[in-house]
Amino acid sequence: MASGPVVIEVRGKVAIVWVDNPPVNALSQAVRQGLSDAVAAVEADAKVAAALILCRGRTFIAGADIREFGKGPLEPLLTDVIARIEASPKPWAAAIHGTALGGGFEVALGCCWRVMDSRAEVGLPEVKLGIIPGAGGTQRLPRLTGIATAIEAVTSGRRIGAGEAQKLGIADAVVDLEPGEEFADRALAAVEAWLAAGTMPVPVSARPVPPLDAAEAEKLIAKAVERARGQLSPGEAARAVADALTLDFAAGLAAERARFLKLVGHPQAKALRHAFFGERELSKLPMLDGVKPRAVSTIAVVGGGTMGAGIAVAAADAGYTVTVLETDAAAAKRAAERIHGLYQGYAERKRIPADAVGVKAAAIDITTEIGDLGTADLVVEAVFEDAEVKRDLFRRLDKVVRPGAVMATNTSYLDPNRIAAATGRPAEMCGLHFFAPANVMRLVEVIETADTAPDVLATAFAVALKLGKLPVFARVCDGFIGNRIWATVRRHYEFLVEDGASPAAIDAAMTAYGFPMGPFAVYDLSGLDISWSWRKRNMADRAPDVRYVDIPDRLCEMGRLGRKTGAGWYDYASGKAKTDPVVEAVIAEERARKGVTARPVAAETIQRRALAVMANEGARILEEGIALRPLDVDMVMIHGYGYPAWRGGPMFEADAIGLPTVLGWIEEAHAAGGPGFEPARLLVELVQQGRTLADWAQSR
Ligand code: 3HC
Repeated sequence: MASGPVVIEVRGKVAIVWVDNPPVNALSQAVRQGLSDAVAAVEADAKVAAALILCRGRTFIAGADIREFGKGPLEPLLTDVIARIEASPKPWAAAIHGTALGGGFEVALGCCWRVMDSRAEVGLPEVKLGIIPGAGGTQRLPRLTGIATAIEAVTSGRRIGAGEAQKLGIADAVVDLEPGEEFADRALAAVEAWLAAGTMPVPVSARPVPPLDAAEAEKLIAKAVERARGQLSPGEAARAVADALTLDFAAGLAAERARFLKLVGHPQAKALRHAFFGERELSKLPMLDGVKPRAVSTIAVVGGGTMGAGIAVAAADAGYTVTVLETDAAAAKRAAERIHGLYQGYAERKRIPADAVGVKAAAIDITTEIGDLGTADLVVEAVFEDAEVKRDLFRRLDKVVRPGAVMATNTSYLDPNRIAAATGRPAEMCGLHFFAPANVMRLVEVIETADTAPDVLATAFAVALKLGKLPVFARVCDGFIGNRIWATVRRHYEFLVEDGASPAAIDAAMTAYGFPMGPFAVYDLSGLDISWSWRKRNMADRAPDVRYVDIPDRLCEMGRLGRKTGAGWYDYASGKAKTDPVVEAVIAEERARKGVTARPVAAETIQRRALAVMANEGARILEEGIALRPLDVDMVMIHGYGYPAWRGGPMFEADAIGLPTVLGWIEEAHAAGGPGFEPARLLVELVQQGRTLADWAQSR
């Protein structure tokens, strides 16, 4: 049979059902129809005793076609296709390579047998898209693994490797391919052996659900809800799995479908789809179109501090040859220890075997000779955040780094144009703003200076992608995209404190909004001194009519620089953040000094203010051309600053709420903050035109 993306090839007694729907074999309507037709064809072919689903390309079926969501159900429904596979009198097997995710894994669960390539993974990641498995995953998985494991799998959405899948009873066989061997041949051999054994396993849907105490299930559900911080899908997914304890398979399936349908059109699911596709749009930029990146195989990192060590480890893990430059032997030793410590952490979390730590750490060369950087293809500077220190370093690098190599400064607030000007080759420079810890955080702002050559930019993107990062294009301004928005909204959090809210109330409001940490807890974690020195640097430029809250300066003057000094906005003497009467007294004094009568501020007011200020600053960043698209701003805020992905980022959320409403909130923020917080021209114009930010992005 040859019909579109699903083709049957009969080999002996087994019909191989090939799925070929690049890039990831998503279950589009044509694939579902093809599988459904294949069931009928296999049943009709008397020579065939069994069917084996195999996929072309890099992966097994990676799930439902997310682009079809929101377009209404298109027949045949996946649930029905899987039911046909499972009910077929001839056994079906799934041969999994790459990843079997979501609907793809559900197809495999509907088969009699699952054979996995030892490198393959399975998973039900639907919660990350704001939905739950909608084709039996919540009902079949617990019948194999038990309720608790299934709840953990569907609420985390994590991928399960072949080895674990076999232990959990998900995989019936795991094959380790020898060089030159075809997965199809090994999978076929497994099916032939099962056929020869002559026993048909009980379909997964007909197996009993291992019992679990109802109270225990409730606890697991409650935990999932709490961890989700406002996102609905994990709680719903846990409840759907727990349904299997009380409902038979058919009723459980119906309940799952109802929950799926309730979520798939929900704003949270739309926001998470925006986040999913947004991540993948980041590097699709017109200025990179057709531009060939320069070849990079060796990376030099200047500075082996927290940031430099993280960058070095990320680069080494991505397969680059890495050298770290330090100032002297003592600093080099500390850098080596830091790198070793990062790998030690990997081993503790079982990401690498314990005996690999030393080898991996030793693979990163550490030198104190700047001349050793002469052969590097890319040099990333990650030294102390001081313009003169950086300019001096680049002057020296300019003398030793080979012509044609790319040089990048990792700065948060300094001007990369000025840093690049210290060299005789500003066209070969860009900014690479990593986020700490750089080996973990995926966000990287790639900064185009006034002179950055197109292929230098393309190289920075290519390397960041190879590092597994999410590179976001930004042009030069104070703080680029993320820190600029964060610094702006932080000022409003301070205004709110001066006006009557406590830091703890603001933190509670923002964690209730979905942020993993409140802003004052973050402030304490990253250190109050960074913004303090920025404020001191810019003191002279501060207009007298600009609203200024002195509380953080006073805390810094008291030596309260955050967690690292044991105290900041909170006190950490007990190891935990505690409200401190000393801070309350400073706040009270400052209010009194300015004649402010403290008024309680509702959580909703705090949340609205935060959204309004972030969206407004984001819009200014767009109108100035610092960021290219609203999605770039959203991805920075989600991946760098904890903005809840299920809200889609500030720009997406502003559109979803409605720009006229948000503009009203921005005007309130302007009234509270005064000069500097005027509504962005872009937003005012869009409201006048009745358009959204998404319309604006599309029309450009
Ligand atoms: N539907 C539609 N398009 C998809 C897709 C899907 N399920 N999964 C990936 N794509 C697209 C991407 O948008 C991208 O398109 P682009 O090239 O135009 O940007 C392309 O496929 C390649 O994707 P990646 O860049 O992510 O490729 P990787 O190799 O890095 O990763 C992957 C592959 C691990 C499969 C990853 O794409 C992924 O995690 N996909 C989503 C998997 C998922 O969430 N599945 C569940 C879907 S919901 C579901 O199944 C509901 C069911 O229960 C009813």
